[in-house]
Amino acid sequence: MALWNGRDIQRIVILTGAGISAESGLKTFRDTGGLWENHDPMEIATPEAFARDPGLVYRFYNARRRQLDEVAPNAAHRALALLAERFAGSVFLVTQNVDDLHERGGSEQVCHMHGELNSMLCAKCTTRQPAASDYDGSTVCPACRLAGGLRPDIVWFGEIPYHMEQIGAELAACDLFIAIGTSGTVYPAAGFVREARFAGALTVEVNLEVSDTSGYFDVQRQGPASVEVPALVTSLLG
Ligand code: OAD
Repeated sequence: MALWNGRDIQRIVILTGAGISAESGLKTFRDTGGLWENHDPMEIATPEAFARDPGLVYRFYNARRRQLDEVAPNAAHRALALLAERFAGSVFLVTQNVDDLHERGGSEQVCHMHGELNSMLCAKCTTRQPAASDYDGSTVCPACRLAGGLRPDIVWFGEIPYHMEQIGAELAACDLFIAIGTSGTVYPAAGFVREARFAGALTVEVNLEVSDTSGYFDVQRQGPASVEVPALVTSLLG
């Protein structure tokens, strides 16, 4: 338990978005030069897009997965791992990011609500399998040994994110909710701040700029995640 901003904090929920990985060299979606500036999300990140042009979708996610080899976690990822390790209460980390930078930054518990680039999903046997290299429709599933069923293990628009029940329970019980580097435009994640407030939690936003949901946060820390997150963690660990 910690006394912080005049409140007893026992349970923390942290939501991260593309902004936390931006300083590691991964593009965000909606900033200038972001991924959705050059690609229409409806032509990449929907089940219909995959049915229409699977080759384009495989190429997009294979390239993004390969890029993980070229980037490293930054001070913000590492600070969140330190918080989970040292904080006397509980810390639940949920990310919209499909990269592996939280894990490589030392976080042992990471809830990937939008899936993971390092994973592929088999429609034939419905298992999730590690994706160590490029794959496409001709790749044989290591579990069922059938080809033609593998797709990126990414939650696309129109699909239900992973772990919603667990996330809802954590939000309903938290005393502090922190959102880092997310524009607050994609639901259900954009609604988490309201769920946390409903539970009586203090809410903190870390972002370079004002986001679509900034108005719901009690505290705003404006600046780069690599600076603001370590400072916030130091303050929480008191
Ligand atoms: P966005 O690209 O929508 O927003 C990134 C946010 O990070 C913006 O609000 C930026 O101001 C902020 N930002 C950028 N650099 C930052 C930095 N160095 N420090 C702090 N903040 C910074 O990304 P998300 O909100 O994560 O979904 O996008 C949500 C979802 O939309 C993604 O998970 C993805 C996308 O479509 C799927 O693909 C399913």
